[in-house]
Amino acid sequence: MATAAIAAPDPQPARAPRGPRNLRLAVVGKGGAGKSVISATLARHLARRGHRVLALDSDTLPGLSISIGAGVPEEVPLNAAAERNDKGRWRLVKGVGAARAVQRFATDAPDGVRVLQIGKTDRRGLEPNRASHQAFYQVIHRLDDVRSLDDWVILGDLPAGPRQAAYDWAPYAQRFLLVVEPTWQSMLTARRIVRIAGTMRDDREFSLVVNKVTADADAQRVQEFLGVPLLGAVPADDAVRTAERAGVALLDVAADSPAAQAIERLAAKLDAGNIDRL
Ligand SMILES: Nc1ncnc2c1ncn2[C@@H]1O[C@H](COP(=O)(O)OP(=O)(O)OP(=O)(O)O)[C@@H](O)[C@H]1O
Ligand SMILES: [Mg+2]
Repeated sequence: MATAAIAAPDPQPARAPRGPRNLRLAVVGKGGAGKSVISATLARHLARRGHRVLALDSDTLPGLSISIGAGVPEEVPLNAAAERNDKGRWRLVKGVGAARAVQRFATDAPDGVRVLQIGKTDRRGLEPNRASHQAFYQVIHRLDDVRSLDDWVILGDLPAGPRQAAYDWAPYAQRFLLVVEPTWQSMLTARRIVRIAGTMRDDREFSLVVNKVTADADAQRVQEFLGVPLLGAVPADDAVRTAERAGVALLDVAADSPAAQAIERLAAKLDAGNIDRL
């Protein structure tokens, strides 16, 4: 009796090899150094240069969303992305992985930037938005696995304080943009951030942005103190404060201001990928 030929199993469809990822940035520095203004303006400039950009607003106080011109929503979309299981542990709701969370719960900002926002603290504290915090944390820890985001720029604005030095809050970041004012406090804080970061992982890089510069020598002084490659300097510019007083984005009211132009140059350098040669 002839034996039926056993068909060889179909080979597993090979996954396409993974190409290089686009920029993965986290913006860190002392409180008030200018992280949110620089993150927001940089995100929009990178989008204007043709990138798809996901901006991550990880501060529980208002910052990036206002500086980018998106405002702070009454209801935090990301609250719908997490729930407690029957043991009281937080998890992403069924059917929502990191890719879907970004797709569904990131919101639109000018120039086509998408913003994923953590819920803000209000007079009731963090509790009403706890789900968004849990969801945010879980999503940022899975972003690296989301292939559909490989060609996106991911740019996180980290809150001031010790949390930012812990890579846990920016696990996606390949490069930290260290925003530093030319003041002792700002420089000492920045040095501490670099040292703490260095003891945790060594596969990430730092680039220095000296902000609120008033003298030619400022950037060089900060750079020499920190020993971090300089990406660029942003001048102290009243247009930034004026935009902030009005609660609007710098690019929407003063796109030609010296600060906006300096941040545009940062975007161009990052985009050209020539940061190591600066
Ligand atoms: N280049 C600049 N020129 C003038 N003022 C600036 C400049 N950059 C930032 N500022 C001002 O500095 C203040 C802090 O800016 P921003 O909120 O961006 O800092 P931050 O580092 O995000 O602060 P936080 O740590 O509170 O999140 C704001 O009042 C802003 O208008
Ligand atoms: Mg901020």
